[in-house]
Amino acid sequence: MFVSLATTVFLLTFISLGRVQKTDVTFYLFTSENRETATEITKENATVDGNSSLVFLIHGWRESREKPWYSDLTDALLYKFDEINVIQVDWSKPALQFYPAAAYDTKETGNIVGSLILDLVVNRGVNVENVHLIGHSLGGHVAGFAGKYLQKFGFKLSKITALDAAGPLFRGFWVLEASRLSKTDAEVVVAIHTDPWKFGYLVSFGSVDIYVNGRPLIQPGCPDTAELNWLVCSHQRSHQVYIDALQKFGTLVATRCWSYLGLLFGWCQRNKQVDLGGEFKYDERGEYYLKTHFKKPYGLGP
Ligand SMILES: *[C@@H]1O[C@H](CO)[C@@H](O)[C@H](O)[C@H]1NC(C)=O
Ligand SMILES: *[C@@H]1O[C@H](CO)[C@@H](O)[C@H](O)[C@H]1NC(C)=O
Repeated sequence: MFVSLATTVFLLTFISLGRVQKTDVTFYLFTSENRETATEITKENATVDGNSSLVFLIHGWRESREKPWYSDLTDALLYKFDEINVIQVDWSKPALQFYPAAAYDTKETGNIVGSLILDLVVNRGVNVENVHLIGHSLGGHVAGFAGKYLQKFGFKLSKITALDAAGPLFRGFWVLEASRLSKTDAEVVVAIHTDPWKFGYLVSFGSVDIYVNGRPLIQPGCPDTAELNWLVCSHQRSHQVYIDALQKFGTLVATRCWSYLGLLFGWCQRNKQVDLGGEFKYDERGEYYLKTHFKKPYGLGP
């Protein structure tokens, strides 16, 4: 056996690189008037109301737009905000590859998402200040690369919300900001950390970093949540709390603090607070912490 596992992984990665086609990334539009059925849009035929805010959802590894959290988050956004359009991004073909290849393809996928946004901004009257990208896991890096792409043309996204952005192959001091989601990819980059030790990020990388229940090995309630795979339970908690934050506004409020312990001891009570489901302003920088319930509804109130 001359070919080691590492070599095999390397070769497989190499073989499958750079294969993302434009048609591998598809877009489905929902509007306030059309909440129930998706309209597939392409760069050629997209019509979006430029005065409404525009939110993109970007899933992670081994997922697609069929995942229930996509429709839950789409509904939560459409019911919370009046003037809003939601575009579900489906990049399941590259995302279904084995992890290193999918991770590598986040860049090209981000470029494709960025190029649709560029077209909407340049040709269809969409204001880039109204564009918000929400990415889970590897989708967080896709969002980052879309932001980097737009900056080459002089446009900056208003906001990226990273729901437990993927850590494996993206963390470490040697990973340059150009190769992953970073705080400069949008005016505000909100990083919601729920699985810092396995699939997410332990260190802060956003303009606002929110640590849900501190930096736990597993989220409270996770091993008992029978319907979810225990391995990804903490990672998935990021979109569950975000959906709750939109549905029950004011119940998931994080406090700026130097540590989770400081929050539990009440030493940060006078500090700035942010609502997970709210808008974020420039001055709300730094690390924030919040404690949640161990199951839905996760919010403990203000
Ligand atoms: C846009 O084009 C795609 C692909 O050709 C098609 O499936 C979709 O229905 C079109 N959407 C609209 C709004 O015309
Ligand atoms: C956006 O708002 C402006 C000013 O209120 C209006 O003139 C314009 O028609 C609106 N555009 C769309 C696409 O609704």
